[in-house]
Amino acid sequence: MLGTTASAPAKIILFGEHFVVYNQPVILASINKRLKIECKIEVESNKAINLETNNFGKKIYPLSIIKNNNQDIVNEFFYPIIYILRKMVYHNTEPYGITIKIISEIPYGVGLGSSAALCVAGVAAISGLYKRLKNKDEILDIAIETERILHKNSSGADCVVSTYGGLLYYHKDSNVKTLRFSNELSFIIINTGIKHSTGDLVSLVNRFRKNNLREFNDISSKYSRICCRAIKALEEGNLLNIGKLMNENQILLERIGVSTPEVNKIINLSIKYGAIGSKLTGAGGGGCVLSLIHPSDKDYFVSKMEKNGYECFPVSIEDQGLKVNIESSDF
Ligand code: MEV
Repeated sequence: MLGTTASAPAKIILFGEHFVVYNQPVILASINKRLKIECKIEVESNKAINLETNNFGKKIYPLSIIKNNNQDIVNEFFYPIIYILRKMVYHNTEPYGITIKIISEIPYGVGLGSSAALCVAGVAAISGLYKRLKNKDEILDIAIETERILHKNSSGADCVVSTYGGLLYYHKDSNVKTLRFSNELSFIIINTGIKHSTGDLVSLVNRFRKNNLREFNDISSKYSRICCRAIKALEEGNLLNIGKLMNENQILLERIGVSTPEVNKIINLSIKYGAIGSKLTGAGGGGCVLSLIHPSDKDYFVSKMEKNGYECFPVSIEDQGLKVNIESSDF
């Protein structure tokens, strides 16, 4: 029996969501929450595609779905997996069934990169099963292509950080760089519980840009200066400046229309309870708030936020991106 396992991390965006779609750099990091995919070929049991998750139930598709481009499933949670199978299974008739288990610790649809982690781990695990792709760069290309079926203008940033891991500087048209940071970065995520569609929010910003081109360009160049100063502040480990720049970035996100009253309320509470800086992270429209705090304030901060009824959890930056394990055998 041949089996593969791949896991890919969630992400936080420290600076630059949305602006990255319009050729500005973004600063983002992989965090210590993962989505894991286990795949195996079923030689003996049913000849079908068996999909299981720890939070979206189970589904069985006929093997024929790989070859008939059935569009009825495009809105289903499992569609990215079927899309990846369509790319990786070359035979006209696949003789064996496949079981794919998805186990995720990443809250879904709240800006922490669950879709990107699904695409990255999915491509790695399925391509491992059929021995298709050679390295992380090739996996990343197909993962971004897959993510674009979910939101067509994806900058690719989420898949990049989920693949390579660490604290990264990424620009759509140039190389990815690992950033140095010289201090403990103590981040807390606060979940508004309001799910969003990244594609809809990217379209909303695009409409804002088209209707207010001059204002958007002005906001975008303000962001560009924030990003340069943020790289320096991270290198110096200057927490006060990092926090201040997060607050400035948040003001720009409000101006382009992706913040919400609930996000603003959480940010105000965060500052009241001692956050050094606070902003939305990811596409916005609800989702999660990212607050930077002094490490010694962590417990106090979390208890205050929980008393206010919010789900919140500390996260740390994880160096490792995609992890893959291919078990071969006599199959
Ligand atoms: C979503 O995590 C980040 C956005 O900038 C979209 C993208 O980069 O594709 C909002």
